[in-house]
Amino acid sequence: MSGAKKIHNQTEVGVVAPPQTVAIIMDGNGRWAAGRNLPVGDGHREGTRALRRTVEAAIDQGIAVLVVYAFSTENWERPPAEVATLMEILGETIDRELPDLALQGVRTRFLGRRDRVPSHLSEAMGELERSTAHLETLCLWIAFDHGGRDEIVDAARRLIEDGLASEEVDEAAIAARLNAPELPEIDLLIRTSGEFRISNFMIWETAYAEFVFTDTLWPDFDSEDLRSALQAFAARDRRFGGR
Ligand code: IPE
Ligand code: IPE
Ligand code: MG
Repeated sequence: MSGAKKIHNQTEVGVVAPPQTVAIIMDGNGRWAAGRNLPVGDGHREGTRALRRTVEAAIDQGIAVLVVYAFSTENWERPPAEVATLMEILGETIDRELPDLALQGVRTRFLGRRDRVPSHLSEAMGELERSTAHLETLCLWIAFDHGGRDEIVDAARRLIEDGLASEEVDEAAIAARLNAPELPEIDLLIRTSGEFRISNFMIWETAYAEFVFTDTLWPDFDSEDLRSALQAFAARDRRFGGR
């Protein structure tokens, strides 16, 4: 025997099992732009290039499910011109980037509210979901107008609408009424730009996620950043409250 200790995330010595579900809080677009004296929209546009690069890197690195936080329920508070630019960029991403990724087997799905984005965008979101539903290389979930609290409030409403008695309300009943019940819990959550907070992202689904924070601003994020986050994850000992 080699005497090497088997730890939770390693199948055998030196072979690292990738996390099933990886999420990224894609932060730092504004600072990236400000550092170059560019308008904030240029930072967001560069962010979509980083998204494409990261999805391709995730495929190469064996990730099956990737969730990205693109717009929070609080981001509506930003200046109207920035919000309008973000909506425009979502449209461009749906029209151009995501169909290119579909050619590489990427299924795209959206998390979050659909009732506040412009109707042409909610229609485009649904259309892209339908046209990529058969693809299996990687499932990309884009959290747009997502808020973890909003999602739980919505689940609570559905419990009532479904007529559950109080003794029928348990974790499974709530989980089944979240925005995407089929989405596995998050194993690894990466946040870029040196901020150490969750900013209302999937607060139910990250209950036992491993967190990796990097100073890299989102537009600069690349395959090496992803690799080093996966390495950090591989060294973690996940205990889930047990021994
Ligand atoms: C993340 O970048 C994108 C969104 C929140 C939509 P930011 O725009 O928050 O970038 P910083 O945090 O201001 O640098
Ligand atoms: C979180 O980033 C939302 C997204 C990355 C889409 P923010 O920049 O909005 O978060 P705070 O305001 O720094 O917490
Ligand atoms: Mg930010």
